[in-house]
Amino acid sequence: MKSIQIGLIGLGTVGSGVFHVLQRNQEEIRRRAGRGIEVTMVSRRNVEQARAIVGDKAQVVADARAIIANPDIDIVVELMGGYELSRELVLEAIAAGKHVVTANKALLAVHGTEIFAAASAKGVMVAFEAAVAGGIPIIKSLREGLTANRLQWVAGIINGTTNFILSEMRDKGLDFEVVLQEAQRLGYAEADPTFDIEGIDAAHKLTLMSAIAFGIPVQFDKAYVEGITKLAAADIQYAEQLGYRIKLLGVTKRTAHGVELRVHPTLIPSKRLIANVEGAMNAVMAHGDAVGTTLYYGKGAGSEPTASAVIADLVDITRLHTADPAHRVPHLAFQPDAMSNLPVLPMSEVVTSYYLRLRVADQTGVLAKVTGLLAESGINIDAVLQRASGDESGQTDLIILTHDCQEAKMNTAQAQMQNLPTVLAPIVRIRKEELA
Ligand code: NDP
Ligand code: HSE
Repeated sequence: MKSIQIGLIGLGTVGSGVFHVLQRNQEEIRRRAGRGIEVTMVSRRNVEQARAIVGDKAQVVADARAIIANPDIDIVVELMGGYELSRELVLEAIAAGKHVVTANKALLAVHGTEIFAAASAKGVMVAFEAAVAGGIPIIKSLREGLTANRLQWVAGIINGTTNFILSEMRDKGLDFEVVLQEAQRLGYAEADPTFDIEGIDAAHKLTLMSAIAFGIPVQFDKAYVEGITKLAAADIQYAEQLGYRIKLLGVTKRTAHGVELRVHPTLIPSKRLIANVEGAMNAVMAHGDAVGTTLYYGKGAGSEPTASAVIADLVDITRLHTADPAHRVPHLAFQPDAMSNLPVLPMSEVVTSYYLRLRVADQTGVLAKVTGLLAESGINIDAVLQRASGDESGQTDLIILTHDCQEAKMNTAQAQMQNLPTVLAPIVRIRKEELA
């Protein structure tokens, strides 16, 4: 049977990985897919560099639209990144009747609703396994492997750059800025690391997982996003002493009132497997009513790990492209006419537990005042730790762990504690998840 013909738009880290893995494993892939999968066209602006990668095995074009215009191309693979041009090209490819594979989580988190609707109307597939957690087949697991379940929550370390930074801060006791520079030197963090360190990249990925887990539209604009730039080495050490590790965690939960969708630094009990995910690795936990808690671990980025996910999508499409569109796996796991309108909850309505660090005057009655304010707001304390400042300042660090409470209550209590004359610096507050 004639090979499926692929056009790659973008031939950088991921695109070159896709090309090389398809070349290397072509026989194995043919045996699985039932026919060959062949890259016959590639596009990047620097055509010389593209030719250096693909040689004479594929036609090189500078204009990505030449791929979309080619009637022989069955699947367009968008590996260029960005929002606007990639949106235009993906919509044009769909309009031309091409199936699309993309690793672009930013594109889908922001324009996913429009893109999936266009694909459904045209009867083509848009596959995006590589967009979340790189090489880990988490989209397939949530959408297909756990399809029997009413999923209750999904939580993950889904940004390798920030996990590397947090691991280094913990191991070496270094501050954020120092480790960021090291991460950039080693090539983990990009020259502009904003999307990673501010939690935006993780929120893009979480938004996609949330949509698939609960059958809600893709709603990146409703996600709460807090990065790791304000984390102090001291809090990582205090957390450690209390039996916790701090991770940048994406959490999405179904509650009776709506869906929580949030990315922020989070204390996780050290005894959980996910708390021990170190360096640039990723891991995702998903909890379903039938299966219980499951855990998925692996490389969330890199040329060939990400190519592994892109090619899995290519094989899926190759197997399914002749099937009646109504019998294919829906893009977001649920049938388009069976999506839920469960709202994404504002952060004030989220229920979680907290780590608080207060720099206070080391005087009689200070602890009683602080705990009194928490009690007045109905917040139950789980543990308290006091650490002397180690200097002659007469100040001390008071670390408090709470049980679950609504964020709105914590906001009120925190404002009241901050107003106490004996609280000498801005209170540090980090959310905590037991992930039990
Ligand atoms: P790179 O920057 O390495 O590659 C991007 C490629 O796109 C380059 O070959 C670039 O070449 C090409 N390109 C840019 N503009 C155009 C254009 N107008 N027309 C044609 N080609 C163009 O990015 P990555 O490979 O790292 O990432 C690609 C996508 O995969 C992104 O969406 C990213 O978020 C996602 N992703 C990346 C992962 C990773 O580990 N790197 C992991 C998971 C997802 P030129 O400049 O010559 O045009
Ligand atoms: N910048 C991302 C990370 C790449 O650090 O995980 C993979 O999406």
